[in-house]
Amino acid sequence: MKIFIDSANLQQIRHLIENYQIEGVTTNPSILAKEKEDYWDVLKQIQTIIGRERPLFVQTLSETADEMVQEAENIVQTLGGKIYIKVPAVKEGYKAMKELNKLGINTLGTAIFTAQQALMCANCGIQYVAPYVNRIDQLSGDGVGVVADIVKLFNTFQLQTKVLAASFKNVNQVHKCSLAGAHSITASPDIIEALHEHPSSIISVEGFSKDWQKRFGVINCK
Ligand code: E4P
Repeated sequence: MKIFIDSANLQQIRHLIENYQIEGVTTNPSILAKEKEDYWDVLKQIQTIIGRERPLFVQTLSETADEMVQEAENIVQTLGGKIYIKVPAVKEGYKAMKELNKLGINTLGTAIFTAQQALMCANCGIQYVAPYVNRIDQLSGDGVGVVADIVKLFNTFQLQTKVLAASFKNVNQVHKCSLAGAHSITASPDIIEALHEHPSSIISVEGFSKDWQKRFGVINCK
């Protein structure tokens, strides 16, 4: 399962890219609004950190399909590199997805709350869908269940669209999505850290060092 960073915080992105296997970065308008700098500058700096070969996801804000397509073209032209345009799974969004597919612009259907929405996005020929796991859970739904259904539907109909599960509040939701067969997830930096680390791993390593030092003295592996 591929890991994407759901953040526009440059310091955190740099830290995660340096330490872990990260496939790319996803943003949305709320994530970009948290940063103090101009959003174009932030997006360009993210590209500098992750490299132009890694995907960067940027969401449209327009309300009509024509404007979404224009906005997408502007984002792609302004940034260059491997840009994926996030388009919401709403009426005008589906129309825009069909057009972006025709234009060959990489697209992700976002704000997905049901498996059928994901299937309708995939029918538009786009590359990714992003089901919102925690937001579904908050509505007394079953976020992981929706992801599992999407994976099953995409397999049944042999669709090439990939599932990039999103909106997580804890590691357990991510774990269950990986068991359900989600191709990729995007999560906040703290959740990505928690996926990699465990306090018991650190305690175990400290124990090995102590035992070695007791018997052999200073650790010198050269
Ligand atoms: C990513 O595509 C989504 O915009 C994001 O994961 C939403 O997360 P949230 O529900 O924590 O805002």
